[in-house]
Amino acid sequence: MVSNSYLNLRIQTAACLNNLLYFDRHMIDTARILPNLERSNSRIMILPNELLRSRYGTISFDIGNCWTPSLETLLSHRSIRAYRSVPLPPSTLETLIAAAQSASTSSNLQTWSVVAVEDVDRKAQLAEVTNRQAHIYQAPLFLVWLADLARLTRTAEQLGLPHEGLDYLEMFLMASIDASLAAQNAVVAAESLGLGTVYIGALRNRPEEVAAILGLPPLTFAVFGLCVGYADPDKPAAIKPRLPQPAILHREQYQSIEQDVSIVEYNEQMRQFYTDQKMNVPGDWAEHSAKRIATREALSGRDRLREALHHLGFELR
Ligand SMILES: Cc1cc2nc3c(=O)[nH]c(=O)nc-3n(C[C@H](O)[C@H](O)[C@H](O)COP(=O)(O)O)c2cc1C
Repeated sequence: MVSNSYLNLRIQTAACLNNLLYFDRHMIDTARILPNLERSNSRIMILPNELLRSRYGTISFDIGNCWTPSLETLLSHRSIRAYRSVPLPPSTLETLIAAAQSASTSSNLQTWSVVAVEDVDRKAQLAEVTNRQAHIYQAPLFLVWLADLARLTRTAEQLGLPHEGLDYLEMFLMASIDASLAAQNAVVAAESLGLGTVYIGALRNRPEEVAAILGLPPLTFAVFGLCVGYADPDKPAAIKPRLPQPAILHREQYQSIEQDVSIVEYNEQMRQFYTDQKMNVPGDWAEHSAKRIATREALSGRDRLREALHHLGFELR
């Protein structure tokens, strides 16, 4: 079995090299620099089976020829919580947003917006309301993804038309889905450029304060934040295993029993992962997850989300 740290090193090296190749394909002789890594179309390829093994602990299906650079990026994902203080190359922000805007959007309503925060003080203020997550001010770019019904409100008003539909829970859900799809496209784009990211759902702990910091108008809501930057190589992050597919993938009808078996397997794997990564997580995945939903207090302030959304102008009928 390939160790996680060995794989991390290979992935980081490949990401760096991909970046160099991206900016100047003609100056790099990949065969000379990294003769042992597989190459395809001048990208350094990580073996699919190594990535599958990191993601699941075992390889339970034959990936065959189903492999592309996009899949390599997707399966290499890990959240990054330590960043180098290096600025992003010019046009990175605009490129990430172009990727985000390329995501599907319900009825093409585009009910999302994003606030790009680079100012150190503003990042520090946002870190403060998210339980002081240091990666927020460390990362050169912090993107706040909004469910945005304000723009459509104005559009309807300018046409002199009613906008009663916006008062319903459906529209809030639609806007949150739109924002999530857009953000995930940006994440994949960033990772394909060798950048690291981590979502920050803790922005929802204190939504009204986030709205004040960012000057948000009524009918906008910060669904989550996203740190973007270059990963600190001294604090590498491992690929985190996921539940075995039988726990997630149901064929024709939902199967609960298959899930229970998979969760037992996964618990063992995660217990080992927490130990290997020196993560302060007592017990296994089931215990950790159950604690996260056990009490109202465990929601870290998000138990009052409905009230906060009402304050921000959402009726949620
Ligand atoms: C919507 C959302 C909100 C998240 N919020 C936080 C957060 O506030 N802080 C944090 O450190 N990680 C956060 N994460 C990252 C998750 O903890 C992480 O994705 C998960 O543990 C799986 O690890 P991986 O992304 O490395 O595979 C969030 C992820 C998502 C999708």
